[in-house]
Amino acid sequence: MTSAQVVTEERVLAALSNIIDPDLHRDVVSLGFIKDLTIVDGQVSFNFELTTPACPVKDRFLQQAETLVGAIPGVSAVRCTMTSNVRSVGAAQRTSVQLPGVRNVIAVGAGKGGVGKSTCAVGLAVALQMTGARVGLLDADIHGPNVPLMMGLTTAPNQEGDRIIPGLSHGVKVMSAGYFVQENLPLIWRGPMVGKMIQELLSGVEWGELDYLVVDLPPGTGDAPLTLAQAIPLSGAVIVTQPPDVSLMDATKALAMFQKLEVPILGIVENMSYFLCPCCGERTEIFSHGGGRAAAERLKVPFLGEIPINARIREGGDTGTPIVVGAPETVESEAFRAFARATAARVSVLQSMRAADAAKGPKQFIKFFDN
Ligand SMILES: Nc1ncnc2c1ncn2[C@@H]1O[C@H](COP(=O)(O)OP(=O)(O)OP(=O)(O)O)[C@@H](O)[C@H]1O
Ligand SMILES: [Mg+2]
Repeated sequence: MTSAQVVTEERVLAALSNIIDPDLHRDVVSLGFIKDLTIVDGQVSFNFELTTPACPVKDRFLQQAETLVGAIPGVSAVRCTMTSNVRSVGAAQRTSVQLPGVRNVIAVGAGKGGVGKSTCAVGLAVALQMTGARVGLLDADIHGPNVPLMMGLTTAPNQEGDRIIPGLSHGVKVMSAGYFVQENLPLIWRGPMVGKMIQELLSGVEWGELDYLVVDLPPGTGDAPLTLAQAIPLSGAVIVTQPPDVSLMDATKALAMFQKLEVPILGIVENMSYFLCPCCGERTEIFSHGGGRAAAERLKVPFLGEIPINARIREGGDTGTPIVVGAPETVESEAFRAFARATAARVSVLQSMRAADAAKGPKQFIKFFDN
């Protein structure tokens, strides 16, 4: 072997530094993604540690890593293991409740009811879990808690001492404010009471270690969603819209509410976006399509994807088996998975911006996106 063919750590890292993360706009070596690099007789092994198991470019990274390292003279084999370690963004606001084991809390909100907020929250949570992430789902929609049924849970959670044990369904830990709202109670769930009660509930739940806690907020921008968005230590928010313009106006209101609370907007997802004929696959735009993407561009927030309208999505909710579990091979399920990947990527971007902020010292502040 000539000296030019001696494989060194420097050469391997130099080759890998040609891989640029498209969301974080930096090379994967300086981002600290390459771990446990060993070289034995030209055999190179390392871990490629992603910031989320739902990484949208995971396969591309693996292929690039194998090709680039494999092309170094003297390398006889490349063993690249893809792992992940979801980093914590932290809460945007100061809240009296803290969730120490929960790395990221993602609110799902909408400017008005009935746009498919709960369906999207359930789809997001389950799709994230299916990538290998540790996920919880909190139904904070005190006006119409239906997440447990959509997840197929029919019994109330167990209690161990003063701790509430969340239900487990499709690999996701589920808790609902609805369990604690008795028949005559909803009227009390107003104003400051709402915030206090959700905080008590939240801090009593044994979440364990979670990468993502998805929170289904009440719809609209009134008292209840506002108080809850303030009371829960949120990392960022996803806004669900439907194509008609009027719904986008509502989305704009939701966006303004989160901005006022300084909760970063992870992006907009458009639900019931189009219909794919199950017989011929023809795509029908039921409403004027593309409004969600246009609105996201106009509002300068990321667009997280579009979910088609399909009876199987509704049936999945009604029967407690979300479509991503019941019919994972469908276009509709892939739409939910793409939405989950995009959301996880935005959480990683937010985390990286926060880390850059922190490195600049307490006085420096970089705004997240343009909002
Ligand atoms: N993409 C979709 N295709 C078909 N049906 C859908 C889709 N999204 C939601 N639905 C159905 O529409 C109804 C309303 O959805 P969902 O309960 O998720 O909305 P929401 O915004 O949470 O409503 P609420 O304001 O009442 O909480 C449900 O029956 C659900 O199954
Ligand atoms: Mg709902």
